[in-house]
Amino acid sequence: MLLHTIKEVREQVKEWKKQGLTVGLVPTMGALHNGHKSLIEKSVDKCDKTVVSVFVNPIQFCPGEDLDKYPRTLEEDNKLCDEIGADIVFAPTPAEMYGEGHILSNDFLTYVIPPYFYTDKLCGKSRVGHFDGVCTVVNKLFNIVQPDFAFFGKKDMQQLIILKKMVHDLNIPLEIIPCPIVREQSGLALSSRNKYLSDKGKVDALALSKLLFNIKACYNKGVNDIKALSETAYSFLNENHELEYLEFRDKDTLEEKKFADDNTVVFIAARVENVRLIDNIELN
Ligand code: PAJ
Repeated sequence: MLLHTIKEVREQVKEWKKQGLTVGLVPTMGALHNGHKSLIEKSVDKCDKTVVSVFVNPIQFCPGEDLDKYPRTLEEDNKLCDEIGADIVFAPTPAEMYGEGHILSNDFLTYVIPPYFYTDKLCGKSRVGHFDGVCTVVNKLFNIVQPDFAFFGKKDMQQLIILKKMVHDLNIPLEIIPCPIVREQSGLALSSRNKYLSDKGKVDALALSKLLFNIKACYNKGVNDIKALSETAYSFLNENHELEYLEFRDKDTLEEKKFADDNTVVFIAARVENVRLIDNIELN
């Protein structure tokens, strides 16, 4: 069932709650691929009812980012959700979410601001304000749907860690279910932004997952020196990769690691054909 208004979603969820049914929420920006599909399948499996939100959230895009060209494929998305067994696809307009004329500056909207310690690093460094926009919209979606469970992918690990922190700090009564990264057979992590890559770009993009797998293999052989692990990784990159960061951080607190250990996540961001790609791997 495709719904566009907050009121309709609230009414439907209220009915379900009256019947004592559990509700799962899968927040997305659409252009759904098998990564999203795995989250929706998990929710359908675990919960009596599943709501998938499809909303390209303007307040999490920084100036100069791809808000206007972000792929919008609602018809296909809705069909896929239906096939998987989702009960509601909630696709609001920006005006529905943020009001007519949607004035989006900090002066006119109550924001949920996650701690600076979590947002001043990794993607937050180049995407200033991005996680404020994510936390604000996800908090709104939580309040609209009031789910028992919310499903997020480890593909966006920093986002997942920040949202877990938000749920904890604000006592939001739901459980976040982290879901594994879905990759192409080649290793490339699925992303809606892969659509911007040429065939050659897709081949170049493989270096990211390859170098992460290599770091994990070296770690498993006993190497825990971060300088040594990083150096093996750099050999996978060439002039077709513009590295933004390669960092070893704690999987709960995002603190920088001195040595790699089982609580370490290795994060990478790089541009290929000017498309910004991110990936990560857990070392446990
Ligand atoms: P979007 O990029 O559409 O991703 C929606 C969800 O799908 C996120 O939880 C993301 O981590 C997950 N996902 C994407 N690619 C994946 C993959 N290859 N494997 C597993 N999970 C994957 O993330 C957002 O949207 C937005 O920031 C949102 C949370 C919806 C707030 O606007």
